[in-house]
Amino acid sequence: MTLTTSIESRIDTLLAQMTLAEKIGQMWQISGKIEDAEAIVRRGGVGSFLNVIGEDARELQRIAVEESRLGIPLLFGRDVIHGFRTIFPIPLGQAATFDPQIVREGARVAAREAAALELHWTFTPMLDIARDPRWGRIAEGCGEDPYLTAQMGVAMVEGFQGEDLGDPERIAACLKHYVGYSAAEGGRDYNTTWIPEGLLRDVYLPPFHAGVKAGAATLMSAFNDLNGIPTSGNAFTLRQILRDEWGFDGMVVSDWNSVIEMIPHGFAADEKDAAAKAIAAGVDMEMVSHSYVDHVESLIAEGVLSPDFIDAAVRAILRLKFRLGLFERPINNIDPEGVLLAEDHLRAARIAARESCVLLKNESALPLDRQFGKLAVVGPLADSGDDQLGCWAFDGRSDECRTPLAALREALGADRIIYHPGLPHARSHDTSGLPELAQTVGEADAIVLFVGEEAILSGEAHSRAFLDLPGAQEALIDVLSATGKPLIAVVMAGRSLVLSPILDKVDALLYAWHPGTMGGPAIADLLLGEASPSGRLPVTFPRSVGQIPLYYNYKNTGRPTPDDAPSIPTGTPLDPKNFTAGYLDVDHRPLFPFGYGLTYTTFEYSDLRLSTMRLGMGETLTATATLTNTGTRAATEVVQIYVRDLVGSVTRPIRELKGFQRVDLAPGASQDVTFTLHTDDLAFHNAAMQRITEPGKFHLWIAPHAADGLRGEFEIGRSA
Ligand code: NOJ
Repeated sequence: MTLTTSIESRIDTLLAQMTLAEKIGQMWQISGKIEDAEAIVRRGGVGSFLNVIGEDARELQRIAVEESRLGIPLLFGRDVIHGFRTIFPIPLGQAATFDPQIVREGARVAAREAAALELHWTFTPMLDIARDPRWGRIAEGCGEDPYLTAQMGVAMVEGFQGEDLGDPERIAACLKHYVGYSAAEGGRDYNTTWIPEGLLRDVYLPPFHAGVKAGAATLMSAFNDLNGIPTSGNAFTLRQILRDEWGFDGMVVSDWNSVIEMIPHGFAADEKDAAAKAIAAGVDMEMVSHSYVDHVESLIAEGVLSPDFIDAAVRAILRLKFRLGLFERPINNIDPEGVLLAEDHLRAARIAARESCVLLKNESALPLDRQFGKLAVVGPLADSGDDQLGCWAFDGRSDECRTPLAALREALGADRIIYHPGLPHARSHDTSGLPELAQTVGEADAIVLFVGEEAILSGEAHSRAFLDLPGAQEALIDVLSATGKPLIAVVMAGRSLVLSPILDKVDALLYAWHPGTMGGPAIADLLLGEASPSGRLPVTFPRSVGQIPLYYNYKNTGRPTPDDAPSIPTGTPLDPKNFTAGYLDVDHRPLFPFGYGLTYTTFEYSDLRLSTMRLGMGETLTATATLTNTGTRAATEVVQIYVRDLVGSVTRPIRELKGFQRVDLAPGASQDVTFTLHTDDLAFHNAAMQRITEPGKFHLWIAPHAADGLRGEFEIGRSA
């Protein structure tokens, strides 16, 4: 008997013994150790707990296994989003590494630490494609591109789950939020989403499909109303696409109360109706709200729901428990000492943070010359552990964070560092300390300024309408810029900020996201040239909020704006140059494109060659370019390949990322970088929602970012 058939037959045996109440109990997830938790567990009235860990989890598990009628173990879940105790950069920062290997390692470390506290299940990766940085949850995902998000999402699934979910150091992953949640109108969290099916299938669904193919054990339905049907009651996305088209056999959990939130959505009349709609759509487990436990028995008695729905849901839940090996090993009993913050965990977090930082400007200010006398370290985020942890870092501890101030003091000697926070905190408008600051930095040879957003400005329900630096941080920059000393800004944030007002005032700008526990040493490594920056933007950076949504894989329109179009028109109001898809008052282009990032050397791309200029359907093409490190330092280039389908039966984006490689090169060295493209990689959904590759002409770029590159052309014929 294979493992799968033995699990299915064990489920059959168990299902045959379960009462309806016990089955419904499995479908409920309770948050926290509520007052009557033990009694509920004892009567088999709950399948999972959220946010119960360690000793509490052990005790509830003991009751479930020893004192409930059938001894079915509980499942303990928690948001282990970018680390457990060792906090890695926020997922958006991890995406900026363009390095699936370090992302996989980050998830492995998080799983290992979480499992030591009896956790079996994390609610990550968040695979929502985010085209709007006003949306605070952009921090939790991998940015705007479906290909990059899929690669990183798969790496996270592999890192959390490993080869075998039964490994005591691995935990189940959860693909969320299914689906379209990030397209919230106006970037306002929980808002309505309208996504045409073609866009849904080409942009929003592919990362989820990749996660399902990678074997993700669970998936979370979302809060949003998608094209009029809330995603937690959406049979089209949850049954037709997920189960029927993709063959997902894992477990679907709702988001927190998202089942009963179908009432204010105006989709369910009451909790009973909400339960019926969520179950019929395929939500197996209800997170927090209890409409299932309250109403399913009567829904079945009244013939509204078939008992088959319940059996299918419970089967999915039990399958997960069997796969995790909980019936054999309900309690891990691992000593967290020696696991939490282990040396190799901290090392991986430091590498991840280092690779996540994106150098956006450098006018010979970096790396810092170690020969200088004193360095001023300024800014409200220079020594703020909480903020560098970022959002969703429940188990991370501020006092365990190595801040940039601490790391620079350690690297250079405390006596060479002059520190001043500048402002009491990053949102503060209190500028009373600025005159003193100007004096304090007087003796310094260079200034490193830590500004940005505090952790609490991103994450769930933390959308912003203004994306400039909060508080009086711009005034702080003005004071420092006026000193004439080399000024290096390190920006920490949970999203892309609008940097236009400050860019000209600084000599260098390093974007560090919220870099996690080891953010300080990682940033110090880069500032001091111990390592060269290698992060690349996983999102387009706008010049102004008014340009949003702004993303690289847009459609051309019938009137594309030429690159040399003046941003403020100089001609008459009827000047035909202005009748294009741009703005009167701001350049149509981004401040920084997707995929952008500088380093301490320069790279040259040359000699693009394609294996063929004409290929048949089902065939493969290779594209090669030579990359040369033309500078004086070793560094890593993230080489990217983009494609454009010139004419389609539906219009196609002006570019789409199809691959990337991190290439390390010594100064003066050259290397050929080769990508392989199969015609299937060029498929999209036509008007009839068939996924096809259409014959015709294509452009291809091997490029340093989405707005540049060596361009080649090829054609796909009708047949091979
Ligand atoms: C609500 C969030 O939307 C979701 O991402 C999270 O996993 C759950 N709460 C559980 O905390």
